[in-house]
Amino acid sequence: MQHTVLVTGGAGYIGSHTTRQLLHAGHRVVVVDNLYSGNKWAVPEQAVFVELDSGNRAAVCRLMHEHDVTAVIHFAGHIVVPESVSDPAKYYGNNVVNSLQMIQACRDAGVRHFIFSSSAAVYGTPATIPVGEEADTAPINPYGFSKLTTEWMLQDLSHSDRINNKPAGECFNHVALRYFNVAGAALDGSLGQATPDATHLIKVACEAACGKRDQIAIFGTDYDTEDGTCVRDYIHVEDLAKAHVTALEYLRNGGQCQTLNCGYGRGFSVRQVLDTVQKVSNAELNLIEAPRRPGDPPILIADKTKIHEVLNWRPDYDDLELICDTAYKWERNLVKFQKRHRDQTKAG
Ligand code: UFG
Repeated sequence: MQHTVLVTGGAGYIGSHTTRQLLHAGHRVVVVDNLYSGNKWAVPEQAVFVELDSGNRAAVCRLMHEHDVTAVIHFAGHIVVPESVSDPAKYYGNNVVNSLQMIQACRDAGVRHFIFSSSAAVYGTPATIPVGEEADTAPINPYGFSKLTTEWMLQDLSHSDRINNKPAGECFNHVALRYFNVAGAALDGSLGQATPDATHLIKVACEAACGKRDQIAIFGTDYDTEDGTCVRDYIHVEDLAKAHVTALEYLRNGGQCQTLNCGYGRGFSVRQVLDTVQKVSNAELNLIEAPRRPGDPPILIADKTKIHEVLNWRPDYDDLELICDTAYKWERNLVKFQKRHRDQTKAG
């Protein structure tokens, strides 16, 4: 049976990949995006696109009724850790206040299934690596706090249905997916990250490899890691998108609330990533050693056991070279791609 899924932030990076996969899986999709950092061209034509702020509770609720929405995947939010340190109100406003409005709209419209884009940033600097979902949450930046606060709101709301003795079939259920470091692009080069002023390592390195940046800084070379640079668990965006589609099926089949790590369970250092980008692009990057960036934990690697058990999710693209290669090819296409869409918009 076809269902309608409302995807907030569906014109953004992970949202657009997930929208594509939802459509392939036979779902109807309504994308809500205010185009702050997303692009309308990233939304597939088969999806309904509505330019709207996800914090507009009344308008979102109307849309839900209009399209018989039965589930929400909530991507919309700000994602840049250093910016959250310098402008925390921006992060609490969009990531917490607007998320609450979105959750309230679901309650108003009777939408019971909710998938939330959370982040490994909720762990802060974990005591144990790989980090499991039961580990203490202790964010070290406002971005992480904003994601954790939304997780708590979801947990409390789901819990309240149970203590208010709502029938099981009417209870609000959610899955919070804690993303590790998302990167890469569609294998055919047709979709990828187009965020302006990107700060994420693989994106920035690919921009440098394409000549869009003169240099790339390595933030911190004195960490207690093998080569002194930070280690992260890089996950391909298509695998992450698949986790959302799988989480949706899980909720539809009566699954209860879950918080799940989305990572591969292994890590690569900043230097290893940069070497890989140089290899796939055949470009020599101008690397600058810079001081540590505030809010960066030294090592972040997922314990992936729970998502494997609960969703039976298995990655298809656990390969750093493939992640960097698809990201690089997308970066090369991006300029042509944006130009073509500008021309089409003018002509249309
Ligand atoms: N880095 C550089 N140079 C750059 C960009 C990044 O050295 O130009 C380093 C960072 O200092 C860090 C690593 O590369 O050590 C990865 O940084 P990213 O900015 O790519 O990603 P983050 O680890 O900061 O962010 C990610 C996710 C968040 C998550 C966070 C947890 O995007 O969702 O990890 O710390 F919350």
